[in-house]
Amino acid sequence: MALCAAASLCLCAVPGAARDGWIPAPGAADLISNGGWSCANGVDAAGAQLTIAAGSGYNTAVNTNGPLLHVTGDFSVSATLSSAQKDNVFLTLVGTLNSGEWWNGLKRLDVGLNAVNYWTGSSSTAVMKPLAVSSTNSSVTVEAARIGPQIVIFLDGAEALRFDDPGLFASGNVYLGFNVAPQSSLTVSALAANVPASGGGSVMLYTPGIAAVTRSNGMRETASKVGFYLGAAVDPSLFNDPAYTQTLGSQFNMVVAENAMKFAETEPAFGKYSYCQADRIVAFAQANQMAIRAHNLVWQQDLPAWLTGGNYSAGDAASILQDHIMNVATHFRGKVVLWDVVNEAISYGQPYGPQPSYWLNTIGSNYVDMAFRWAHQADPGAKLFYNDTGGEGLGAKSDAVFNLVQGLVTRGVPVNGVGLQMHVSLAGAPSAADIATNIKRLTDLGLEVQITEMDVRLKTPASSSDLIAQAKVYQDVLNACLGNSMCTALVTWGVTDAHSWIPGSYPGFGSALLFDENLQAKPAASAIVSVLNSASAMPRVFNGGAVIHGGVSRVVSPGSLVDVYGNALAGTAAEAAASSDLPRALTAVQAVVDAAPAPVLYVSPGLVIFQMPNEIAPGAHTVSIFQGGSASPPVNIYVQPAAPSILTYGANRAVALNGDYSVNSASNCAAQGSTAVTYLTGSGPVDHAIPTGKWIPLSPLSQETLATTVTVNGVNANVRFSGLAPSLIGLMQINFDVPATMAGDGTLQISIGGALSNTAAFCVGN
Ligand code: XIL
Repeated sequence: MALCAAASLCLCAVPGAARDGWIPAPGAADLISNGGWSCANGVDAAGAQLTIAAGSGYNTAVNTNGPLLHVTGDFSVSATLSSAQKDNVFLTLVGTLNSGEWWNGLKRLDVGLNAVNYWTGSSSTAVMKPLAVSSTNSSVTVEAARIGPQIVIFLDGAEALRFDDPGLFASGNVYLGFNVAPQSSLTVSALAANVPASGGGSVMLYTPGIAAVTRSNGMRETASKVGFYLGAAVDPSLFNDPAYTQTLGSQFNMVVAENAMKFAETEPAFGKYSYCQADRIVAFAQANQMAIRAHNLVWQQDLPAWLTGGNYSAGDAASILQDHIMNVATHFRGKVVLWDVVNEAISYGQPYGPQPSYWLNTIGSNYVDMAFRWAHQADPGAKLFYNDTGGEGLGAKSDAVFNLVQGLVTRGVPVNGVGLQMHVSLAGAPSAADIATNIKRLTDLGLEVQITEMDVRLKTPASSSDLIAQAKVYQDVLNACLGNSMCTALVTWGVTDAHSWIPGSYPGFGSALLFDENLQAKPAASAIVSVLNSASAMPRVFNGGAVIHGGVSRVVSPGSLVDVYGNALAGTAAEAAASSDLPRALTAVQAVVDAAPAPVLYVSPGLVIFQMPNEIAPGAHTVSIFQGGSASPPVNIYVQPAAPSILTYGANRAVALNGDYSVNSASNCAAQGSTAVTYLTGSGPVDHAIPTGKWIPLSPLSQETLATTVTVNGVNANVRFSGLAPSLIGLMQINFDVPATMAGDGTLQISIGGALSNTAAFCVGN
């Protein structure tokens, strides 16, 4: 920070650098990457920069769909702008959005390269103030700071204007945006929010609706206790409604995008991908520890007109599908438990042959096999499902589904499961016995089964006896699923009757879900809870299966410790004896990687911790927990050279020791300049390799051979030691000097050989 000793010679024009005495706020040093710009209308966020262009009118692009800043006290936003039309481009900060007329209630500051405009909500006319300095640089860093009662504007680090703040950000919010005059265009190469290093202000990046909800002792907990997924289809445009997110996060432990991951939503124009809405679902699920079912990669519906009207040849269509699958499944890789790879490939009516579709008609019937192979290539850690409707019980449709998936298995196509949609009416619901028989023949093929889109539509208005009959249907289906340890989820097609597809698609019907239009639990929800409460425990691997310590992804490195969360995985808890090598079985429980048992550290009904063998080859593998004679469904896991994951405790706090060996916490911060220690799994290769299952000796030290970087609040830390943790096993230790950053709770992140860890809370003292 000593770079800016003299303001006039200040090197702060370095994009992204803060002025002397100021530092980037945690998580806000790179608001181009972290600003959720794919959600903003009028901004091209395809590259590493933002481009905002205007046609005949102004393009005022404010990111109201993405994250915003919560600010207190002194703060600033800095942006590096370049434009051939320097008078015409502005960084736009909005404290309060308008209501009614575009200017009504609007509190907005436009920072240009020659002048500033601001609006205070009572008139369409801006107050305009020219800047006292100008810059001839091709890229100029503008910065708007609130300092005490004033707004201060800097141009390339030099003060250019100061005026009394008319309360522009009194709301505590700052929406980020840009304003570009007609026929002009702007490129933004750096964007950051900053605070004084000495305190007196704070900035938090916040995405509406994404915050963690309060978890009550509800249906969700009942499902989690027996290792079962209870899910709901979601619409991220409802995330701004706290009643909706509260019900979703407290009643369900799994989500699926009702539409946001489908073809037309993710590839609205040829080769142009859009993940804004789907990413909001991922963020919500991660903030609330919910598993994600991804739906779907290939379907005959929801295809964009550019595709269906594009006159593509068979070869073109195949490569469009391949690119789509590779791009979409790679984007969500490591974040989703599974994909519905192919949806509804069998016709809706007799004779239940291949469903005519764009894909069948252009590529031919082998599009199904191809789709599974591409999906496996893109995300080898995800389970791959075939999903269909109307074939839940026994009959010609379910025979056709069975034959299709049996064919996949026989041909060695990578398929892991079958989704039974279960959109049923009271009269049309299959019997519990038929569903159980159908599930059994599918799981006998080695496949997992999930109930994926359940709703039970009633004639509206629903009578109370219909609601009771509906509860019985939900109860029967859940019982049929819970009766087979390879049936792992029940997902309802929506959270509440207020937002269900049924009234739109089946006029005269509705009331199909577990929660009514006022989000009150219906008899069906109580039935689900009572079935789950009396469910007998079965070995089931939960949470997408293997999860590395501290992380949420199913990517690990050779030699690292792996957590497998589940249910009834072991009879009782047991730990490997201290200081001896790890056994390959504990209380008759084994963690079988591919076909061989791996060393186990700890077993319990809900968690098994094992060590991934050092010799394992990078790529896709399976893990299954064996207990006596029974085995859990296998879990996919992906091995890569390094996959650092910081161990955490409590609410995502790094397991770290301060210089005095006390545990780092929000009330016990590490002094700047002191040497702190943190522990992780997922190291890369080390200079003195330790055989699989052996304790790590103190001498010789086993040091990491790949480059290690540590950042605290985005600032690089000097690394003193990076390697295996002596007298532990499967763990790695990093000693680093705590850099000078903002004091208080911030974030720790590590990279090994370019592979980035999770971010975990870490507290820095003064
Ligand atoms: C439906 C959605 O619920 C609607 O909002 C959308 O307009 C059409 O698709 N089978 C499926 C789901 O696999 O993707 C469908 O979802 C319902 C039928």
